[in-house]
Amino acid sequence: MKQDNKQRKPLLLAVCGKGGVGKTSISAIVVRILAENSDSRILAIDADPSVGLATALGFRGNRTVNDIRNDLIGRIEKGENENRQALLAALDYEVLAALEERKNVAFLAIGRPEREGCYCKVNAMLRDIIESVARNFDYVVIDGEAGIEQVNRRVLATVTHLLLVSDASAKGLKVIETIGTVAGVAVHYEKAGLILNRIRGEGEKNRLSLPPAIPLLGWVPEDDGIRNADIAGQNLMEIPPCPAIVSVRAAITVFVN
Ligand SMILES: Nc1ncnc2c1ncn2[C@@H]1O[C@H](COP(=O)(O)OP(=O)(O)OP(=O)(O)O)[C@@H](O)[C@H]1O
Ligand SMILES: [Mg+2]
Repeated sequence: MKQDNKQRKPLLLAVCGKGGVGKTSISAIVVRILAENSDSRILAIDADPSVGLATALGFRGNRTVNDIRNDLIGRIEKGENENRQALLAALDYEVLAALEERKNVAFLAIGRPEREGCYCKVNAMLRDIIESVARNFDYVVIDGEAGIEQVNRRVLATVTHLLLVSDASAKGLKVIETIGTVAGVAVHYEKAGLILNRIRGEGEKNRLSLPPAIPLLGWVPEDDGIRNADIAGQNLMEIPPCPAIVSVRAAITVFVN
């Protein structure tokens, strides 16, 4: 990757919500919309251990940050005595090499942490490196696990924009409310907002009781365009425009500006 000396402050957007509500699909659509501006550079981070964002964006998904972490821990456990400076340089190089790039979009997967135990120093170093890599981009979109606290703990210390996703289920909305409370939405983020996904019309949307503290950005319909892409194994960067994409664009335009 070309490193930019001019270190910018990117917009760091994390997508969170209950399992299966459409976080990965919405993350991929957000990346697609942001990438329409060819002057913008976007880093997509898959922070969900089940790793779906690579497929949704059409990347291969090769080496993950946790692969790098595990190699390093292996070296430390074997007693290889590297000083902190050398370790940082090696990690920095390996994280940059793990980025996959296509046009103005780069992709990085965090992967599944396999080694338990306290490797806080290694984790903190990796987080610093991801943050410094992120400064070369205008937007960082993170497909998170269910909760924002995991994202902040594992990936970045400071998410600026929290995008919560729920389907119409009471459970999905309950998870949003909990994340909103735990995350201290009003205090900790520049912006936070909710997208409802797989909604069958305005009538259904109006029947839902939404968490009052989180602004509703918009709703995305149940869309055969997304469903068919899933069946055909197509990534969401290349499918023809469909209602879900139009709705996500309307929902995030003000949010990301
Ligand atoms: N608006 C939509 N219309 C039709 N199908 C959708 C829509 N949004 C998501 N889906 C489908 O729902 C399924 C789950 O979506 P997705 O993988 O994006 O959810 P997720 O929240 O990332 O799940 P997980 O928690 O397992 O990572 C996928 O098969 C996806 O194609
Ligand atoms: Mg997912």
